[in-house]
Amino acid sequence: SGRKLTTSDHLRHVQSMANVPSAAGAIPHLNAVILGEALASEEDELVFPSVEFSRQALVPSPRKYLEMYKRSIEDPARFWSDIASELYWKEKWDKEVYCENLDVREGTVKIEWFKGGITNICYNCLDRNVESGLGDKISFLWEGNEPELDGTLTYKELLHKVCQLANYLKDVGVKKGDALVVYLPMLMELPMTMLACARIGAVHSVVFAGFSAESLAQRIVDCKPKVVITCNAVKRGPKVINLKEIVDAALIESARNGVSVDVCLTYENMSAMKRETTKWQAGRDIWWQDVVPKYPTMCPVEWVDAEDPLFLLYTSGSTGKPKGVLHTTGGYMVYTATTFKYAFDYKPSDVYWCTADCGWITGHSYVAYGPLLNGASVVIFEGAPNYPDSGRCWEIVDKYKVSIFYTAPTLVRSLMRDSDEYVNRYSRKSLRVLGSVGEPINPSAWRWFFNIVGGSKCPISDTWWQTETGGFMITPLPGAWPQKPGSATFPFFGVQPVIVNENGQEIDGECSGYLCLKGSWPGAFRTLYGDHERYETTYFKPFPGYYFSGDGCSRDKDGYHWLTGRVDDVINVSGHRIGTTEVESALVSHPQCAEAAVVGVEHEVKGQGIYAFVTPVEGTDYSEELRKTLILRVRKQIGAFSAPDKIHWAPGLPKTRSGKIMRRILRKIASRQLDELGDTSTLADPSVVDQLIALADI
Ligand code: PRX
Repeated sequence: SGRKLTTSDHLRHVQSMANVPSAAGAIPHLNAVILGEALASEEDELVFPSVEFSRQALVPSPRKYLEMYKRSIEDPARFWSDIASELYWKEKWDKEVYCENLDVREGTVKIEWFKGGITNICYNCLDRNVESGLGDKISFLWEGNEPELDGTLTYKELLHKVCQLANYLKDVGVKKGDALVVYLPMLMELPMTMLACARIGAVHSVVFAGFSAESLAQRIVDCKPKVVITCNAVKRGPKVINLKEIVDAALIESARNGVSVDVCLTYENMSAMKRETTKWQAGRDIWWQDVVPKYPTMCPVEWVDAEDPLFLLYTSGSTGKPKGVLHTTGGYMVYTATTFKYAFDYKPSDVYWCTADCGWITGHSYVAYGPLLNGASVVIFEGAPNYPDSGRCWEIVDKYKVSIFYTAPTLVRSLMRDSDEYVNRYSRKSLRVLGSVGEPINPSAWRWFFNIVGGSKCPISDTWWQTETGGFMITPLPGAWPQKPGSATFPFFGVQPVIVNENGQEIDGECSGYLCLKGSWPGAFRTLYGDHERYETTYFKPFPGYYFSGDGCSRDKDGYHWLTGRVDDVINVSGHRIGTTEVESALVSHPQCAEAAVVGVEHEVKGQGIYAFVTPVEGTDYSEELRKTLILRVRKQIGAFSAPDKIHWAPGLPKTRSGKIMRRILRKIASRQLDELGDTSTLADPSVVDQLIALADI
């Protein structure tokens, strides 16, 4: 269990793991741990991997990590080309493994990896594995919303189904470089669709099936797909959601904006709804089951350049509309394969389950591509983690003998609130590695996850990364390090995190500041779709010479990294990134809302909750009805997951004389830290603050 380093046993264990004083010099902030010295202090809670775990681990000790890390930084070209060579390339890349300019002061930002290399990620996920003898291995284990519904596909079967869909798509005119929008729930058909696109060189843009029609329309208009792929409905817990209706509305909206879609391929998800009850537009809509199975189960691969786009995925920023993050093929492939393997200590006998939806980056990199590239068996879960009850996750773990379980802190916290009896009812004895992603995991949730779920024997990989980074950046490697609950620990191979102060100066040792990354790594995104200038402005201009993550971070005396959350106007609700301006524009689009300011507040389960200060137009009274209407407005415009938790009526907002909203003050009011409001004298009208405080509980 989480224990302090007090016995000489532990000390001996760590010293034997870390016995490499001479190599440590290369990476200054790793020294302390490597030398084992700081570990002798009793201040920190350190959790050790068992000797048995470390012994079998891919990276069994800090020594091994350091050796590999050093190589990855000193000779990245060699390091990454050795790894890339394990995958299939129709043609090898040019001599230069990578080329980058990350410094805006020296020209356009440009990142390329394995340029000139010709490959295909679908081929590497499927054909390569089938050819090497994994044809009969299970690729996906699908668990439906209802516990009695399930199904599996072997690698060979998945390959055949992907080929049928790829052939269909080609037949309706989809070509290399064309974009497709995918709006599907967690059916096997979702990753199948992604793979089919990749097979023919088409670019997928998956939209999380919790986004509203308006958000979906926005994404359709942005990339102008010929084909949209969806299903009629999905059941989440006891609720049926008619997805096709949402798509219909989105298609009307996008047509209004000049983008019309030729084909809407619709999978009939019979467990949720029969096809007869689905609204249909003949000529455009077509049932997947009526056409796709008729196509041949073999489809030649479209070989693509390493730098050809693989997918677009929209994510929220601190300003304006969502950004289309663009990932390319070769580097992303190498990076997701490698990070998956090491951060989860993957072994061919593992059964892996990531609870994320393929609608987010976690699902792209670590439900679909990363695991399949490793030939893993992957659980895909359609339903809700607390349906029929809070034991569902552990029931699934036992049913499929899941050995690697990767989830988000919000789920851990919500299950932790229920009785441990739900966990203890199941053996969970197959588990050996746990993972966490999406937001900082607080130490108490970490401990519950470790002790109760993992039975104090499974290391937790707390993976820090972003849609933009494509794969893990800072993460423990299970078995290598003693862990500190709540710390994402150390950088992955090839990753150079730097912490900078406001002036953009790198700070070292024990410090805290803005988290940036130096240099590039294969999985980095290459641009924002159609807006390279915004790419440079958002990520490379704030601290010239570095990629700026938007996160705050501190580093402790032992070199462990502690993520402290976003430092921009992005909030993180249940691990979902939401731009405050997006919520604000949804609110003010209502005719009775004059102004709105949204901030994040601490939330026990969701990590952060959405707190909206709203000024109604002159002559409008505050009312319960208006409150509900406004919340509904946001649900409708963005999606249910971004509905405000609180509407705080605001006769006025605290603004500086130049009209800038002082969010610092709003955050304090929202979290009721009223004695920490700070200086309010620079406000154009300081009395606004008292008015707001008076209205706090209305
Ligand atoms: O604030 C960080 C937080 O999630 C942001 C990235 O969100 P998104 O692009 O949606 O990707 C989520 C899944 C990778 C980051 O800027 N974040 C993600 N993982 C962690 C985290 N914060 C702390 N610890 C993590 N492990």
